[in-house]
Amino acid sequence: MKVTVVGAGAVGATCADNIARKELCEELVLLDIKEGIAEGKAQDMMQTATLLGFDTKITGSTNDYSKTANSDVVVITSGLPRKPGMTREELIGVNAGIVKGVCENVLRHSPNAIIIVISNPMDTMTYLALTSTGLPKNRIIGMGGTLDSARFKYQLSQHLNCSPADLNAVVIGGHGDTTMIPLIRFATWNSLPVTSFLSADQQKQIVSDTMVGGATLTKLIGTSAWYAPGAAGAALVESIVRDEKKLFTCCVKLDGEYGQNDICLGVPVTIGKNGWEKIVNFELNDAEKAEFNKSAEAVRSMNNVLKEIEVK
Ligand code: 2OP
Repeated sequence: MKVTVVGAGAVGATCADNIARKELCEELVLLDIKEGIAEGKAQDMMQTATLLGFDTKITGSTNDYSKTANSDVVVITSGLPRKPGMTREELIGVNAGIVKGVCENVLRHSPNAIIIVISNPMDTMTYLALTSTGLPKNRIIGMGGTLDSARFKYQLSQHLNCSPADLNAVVIGGHGDTTMIPLIRFATWNSLPVTSFLSADQQKQIVSDTMVGGATLTKLIGTSAWYAPGAAGAALVESIVRDEKKLFTCCVKLDGEYGQNDICLGVPVTIGKNGWEKIVNFELNDAEKAEFNKSAEAVRSMNNVLKEIEVK
């Protein structure tokens, strides 16, 4: 197996680090446009191999996509990260050109790769990756909901004072501060409904803290978070390369599922060797349906910006 991570910033490097530690592939390429950064980080990570006991061979490349040839999975993290006070949506103009160019370069050398999109605004970048490449929809996966669901479980664990590993909870919809939908009604603590243990106020707090999870960290750190985004990307790579068919929330192309078309949005999907393999289409109540449709409208108007700007 060969995996490429494009973008050797904090998210890309952390994703690569997780992939290597878990030995998800024999060959791992880290690529960045900035001279030397990918080579340097790849060497630094390789120097942890004997300490951490992994066998994955990591190499770095400054914008030479021939080094990424025949990758099975490619994770795209390229683009500007958020600054404090910035929304993910504000990044669209710059990041659209970057993501489109990366997709073209990647596919020239790895025509069969499955692509995981992390770059923001993630829902629109996933839609752009799909529409600009014309790849089969199952091979384009946006990572957002996987991260948001992990953040949701973290917030729940803080209120329940329990292990996050004992929690099951999903966030669907867009990967934006106002577009994501943490489905607390379905969240369970080892199969017991969390709503039985939390007051209405606590539930509201958990949902709103989850929705601004990324913005809270951007404010604290001064730039976008990387540990959880990188780990979420690696978890998807793991499910693909090991054909685990695990259920994650990912941003995928909807063709009628959840009542939506011509959009990429976060819904529960199984992830395996073919990319996303199955959308789990379950019944939302009226309020959740309305929120999902609102989220879709917001993402759709962002996607429309792609038509207004000339993405080069
Ligand atoms: C976040 O929410 C990077 O969008 C990512 O932290």
